Amino acid sequence: MRGFGLWLVGASGYVGSTTALGLSAMRRGLAPTDGLVTEGRAFQWADLVGYDRIVLGGHEIKPACGSMLETCGEFERLIQTGVLGKCRPDLRRWQKNLRPGTTLGAGSGRRGQGRSPKSSAHASTDASAAAAIERLTADMTGFRRAHKLENVVVINVAGTEVVPKSVRGAATWANLQKTLARRGASPLPTSSLYALAAIEAGAAYINFTPSLGIDLPVLRRRAEERGLPYMGRDGKTGETLVKSILAPLFVFRNLNVLSWVGYNLLGNPDGAALKDPRVRASKQKSKDLTVAKILAGKPVTRVGIDFLPSLGDRKLAWDFIHFRGFLGAEMSLQFIWQGVDSLLAAPLILDLARLAERELRRGAPGPMRHLACFFKDPMTVAQLAMHDQWRLLVKHFSQR
Ligand SMILES: NC(=O)c1ccc[n+]([C@@H]2O[C@H](COP(=O)([O-])OP(=O)(O)OC[C@H]3O[C@@H](n4cnc5c(N)ncnc54)[C@H](O)[C@@H]3O)[C@@H](O)[C@H]2O)c1
Repeated sequence: MRGFGLWLVGASGYVGSTTALGLSAMRRGLAPTDGLVTEGRAFQWADLVGYDRIVLGGHEIKPACGSMLETCGEFERLIQTGVLGKCRPDLRRWQKNLRPGTTLGAGSGRRGQGRSPKSSAHASTDASAAAAIERLTADMTGFRRAHKLENVVVINVAGTEVVPKSVRGAATWANLQKTLARRGASPLPTSSLYALAAIEAGAAYINFTPSLGIDLPVLRRRAEERGLPYMGRDGKTGETLVKSILAPLFVFRNLNVLSWVGYNLLGNPDGAALKDPRVRASKQKSKDLTVAKILAGKPVTRVGIDFLPSLGDRKLAWDFIHFRGFLGAEMSLQFIWQGVDSLLAAPLILDLARLAERELRRGAPGPMRHLACFFKDPMTVAQLAMHDQWRLLVKHFSQR
């Protein structure tokens, strides 16, 4: 079996760079497999490609595509001593596979583009959305050719964008092609241009962000016609993961949840991007779904998100759950989740890449519903409780 390419959109951000670091550390036997779902017993017969056969590449809009190595430097004090130094050659080699991305469709710069003022995005020079898609597609197919890769999986880990209320001119593929070819502004948000490039390049596609990506009927149909698997949206890595496990507890015991309020503090570039109320709304929407959909009643729910730079990539979430039990007695539960955001996400990116590549290799197109447990807002899957989603995943792998 030949290797496959993992193409990251937003490659030198926190999640992209720590994914590269993790991949290198695993290949070199420098890190345990903690945090990797696919290393669990349920996947021992899953026929997944080994870490040593994955090649990294990607798109980035930072000047000169930024530096994965520099970004990883921010994590050096959080990880085992010496690991980054030993992984440096891999990071340098993969850095050469990064290509300038596009900002077309991003609106008025309303996308998370990194914290440092030095890292401001380069202006998009693509004449039209169609031209941008053609260039991005060529980057992906060129990567596949240059590294003699059997398959490519594209994962969106770029900054969160504002999700448009509607997209015009995208009712049919023919319509969309016409509107994409017009000079100037893009009818699709940036994340959907990348999704389309992935489709045209014959790659599997995963959207780890709350952005729109492939989640438009016309794009999904196009992927399915081309025999390609896809999934999204918004990785479930921390507070929402806990919520999706805790909320069923109240259902099982018929306890009446009156309110569930969560407050998140984060200090990484993603947190900085979420200062914009329109960008924050995309995140709040996907974070708020879980409790509202799992619980039968109509509890008051609220998700607060604040940027606290001193925290860096450490994220803190405090949740307060107010509920009523027998004889009307009111009780409460509180939890605090403290995680290193990107180090929770990075292993899932590697899991998703290997799992998506397997479906691509097997010729199984369409939404990878069995991957619902990885997402806050899983496409086409109504089950949001973690145990239901876990069952979907394990069942998929027991049908060998
Ligand atoms: N635990 C987690 O970290 C977690 C969980 C769920 C979802 N996510 C999502 O993952 C994404 C990445 O998070 P992060 O912490 O790495 O953010 P980040 O800001 O560190 O990285 C985003 C990267 O995307 C790049 N970028 C922005 N616009 C781009 C474009 N048009 N084309 C190519 N590159 C572009 C930026 O320059 C930056 O390097 C965010 O959307 C976030 O919401 C993260």
